[in-house]
Amino acid sequence: MAINVRSPATLSLLIFVALFAKSNAGGIVIYWGQNGNEGTLAATCATGKYQIVIVAFLSTFGNGQKPQLNLAGHCNPASNGCQKVSRDIHSCQNQGVKVMLSIGGGDGSYSLSSADDARSVADYLWNNFLGGGSNSRPLGDAVLDGIDFDIEGGESRYYATLATKLAEYSSRGGKKVYLTAAPQCPFPDQWLNGALTSGLFDYIWIQFYNNPPCQYSSSNPNNFKNAWKRWTSSIKAGKFYVGLPASKAAAGSGFVPPEVLKSQVLPLVKSSPQYGGVMLWDEFNDNNSGYSSAIKNSV
Ligand SMILES: *[C@@H]1O[C@H](CO)[C@@H](O)[C@H](O)[C@H]1NC(C)=O
Repeated sequence: MAINVRSPATLSLLIFVALFAKSNAGGIVIYWGQNGNEGTLAATCATGKYQIVIVAFLSTFGNGQKPQLNLAGHCNPASNGCQKVSRDIHSCQNQGVKVMLSIGGGDGSYSLSSADDARSVADYLWNNFLGGGSNSRPLGDAVLDGIDFDIEGGESRYYATLATKLAEYSSRGGKKVYLTAAPQCPFPDQWLNGALTSGLFDYIWIQFYNNPPCQYSSSNPNNFKNAWKRWTSSIKAGKFYVGLPASKAAAGSGFVPPEVLKSQVLPLVKSSPQYGGVMLWDEFNDNNSGYSSAIKNSV
């Protein structure tokens, strides 16, 4: 018997299938840059495993300090040695992989001292990594896709001003500046809540690791489930990602084996319309563990 595609029942079934398939398609986001023994940025993108690669970190900025990149053993920013990464950024973008610059990190020296300071950091980021211009761009001429806020210290009052100023640059036309963030899973985030409530962020990857009260545990999945629900219902953002360690060694706690992610965690999050995928810390650990390869077809 032929399928009658004109029947309303068949049509609505087809539409349902299309919508369902679409809302379930997630991507993998990876942090790169904190281990000189991982592959190059170009090699990372060439694996074809990642939707977005985040270059980590601009670890010094604000409070009158000269902003400084730290890319571990990959290159020496002090002698303009990281400008060679420009070619890799172009190569990633040509393959459809977005490249972000992450500001902050676990042990940087950063702090915004005032709204004016926040605006001057935004100007610096625009001129040195985004669509503006400067004669000393640390990553060369490549225009990155946006700025990732991984703020884990310092103060919290002026990150909303920083986000607002970056969003102003984005709205001037030309290439969009994506804003993303990596808050800790306890809600609200100690440092980023003010920035995140602005509603200006495209993607938020929540760190469900090194955070026992809300990271996933098979014996008490409700802590994770409630945190995910709280985040996705309280903050207006484009998409939310589950942030996880890429191997047991990548974090103090919160590692979820790939089989457990697939059978227990993903079913809790994939039904959210705001679900975007999985963020992994980091490329060095992912390349060693094969984590993203193991989950790619299920995310
Ligand atoms: C993955 O690891 C291999 C072996 O250590 C290395 O040669 C390669 O460059 C790494 N690739 C990436 C993308 O990190």
